[in-house]
Amino acid sequence: MMQIMTFTGSKGGVGKTTLVFNYAAWLAQNNYHVLLIDGDFQANLSATYDLITNKNTLLDVFIGGEPVIRPVTQNIDLLPASPNLDRVEGLIQTKMYREYLLMQWMRLHVDTIQSYDYILIDTHPEFGLLTKNMIAVSDAVIVPLEPREYGFKQLKTQFELRMAEYRQDSIDPRTGVSDIDAQVYYVGNKIQHNTIESRQFREALATMPNVIAQIDAREIMRKSTAQKQAVVEMPASILRKYPGFKEQLITQFTRMTQTLQDNQHS
Ligand SMILES: Nc1ncnc2c1ncn2[C@@H]1O[C@H](COP(=O)(O)OP(=O)(O)O)[C@@H](O)[C@H]1O
Ligand SMILES: [Mg+2]
Repeated sequence: MMQIMTFTGSKGGVGKTTLVFNYAAWLAQNNYHVLLIDGDFQANLSATYDLITNKNTLLDVFIGGEPVIRPVTQNIDLLPASPNLDRVEGLIQTKMYREYLLMQWMRLHVDTIQSYDYILIDTHPEFGLLTKNMIAVSDAVIVPLEPREYGFKQLKTQFELRMAEYRQDSIDPRTGVSDIDAQVYYVGNKIQHNTIESRQFREALATMPNVIAQIDAREIMRKSTAQKQAVVEMPASILRKYPGFKEQLITQFTRMTQTLQDNQHS
């Protein structure tokens, strides 16, 4: 069954784009057909596939243009962001059903959408109309948290409040049921060992429900986005310098995928 996951949360630099990029590569290697949607006007994910453009992008979904999904690598397609995507909030502000424009577009292109096993959506860190459109179509919302982030607990609480508010605001008056049914999950990212804050972070993650993966802070992850090569695709000559990391990452991705599958079916 197809799954749509939005990677979001209210802060930049925690690893959303890096996780989407590396997770997509792993899914693709396992023969899943993946669609990536770049929902950040900074277009970091699109840039990772050397796709920087102002034409036929995600913005067109919202303004009645012609968005074009591009194949970017084996088993991965991408609907890129454009630098002018930041205009979208203003452009759709007064539209009826402005939180459901992506949903409408997906419904109109249901055959294309259903042809994927996974749709991964990267976002800009703010809970605006664009992100709300992404959440509205999602089965899962994945929030990466990092230890260095000052007060990650406050961040998490703040996100939960916004989600609750969004769910509440989206209750269909005819049925009393919210149109937002995405589940929220957390991924601990950039976990260091032997620092006090990382130890506290790991202890906190252990007590939190819905933590579906924990990923260490490693130079190889930074390298993956900087050099536009996913960890699972790096040659042995590079991987050798980071013993066990690729295996750890695959274990975490496997666990995360399994948890999401199980929860979707239950
Ligand atoms: N587990 C990790 N270990 C080390 N560096 C990481 C890790 N995850 C992400 N990074 C690096 O952190 C920086 C910010 O990550 P990015 O994915 O761009 O964050 P976001 O999309 O949330 O703004 C990038 O340089 C990225 O390569
Ligand atoms: Mg990003």
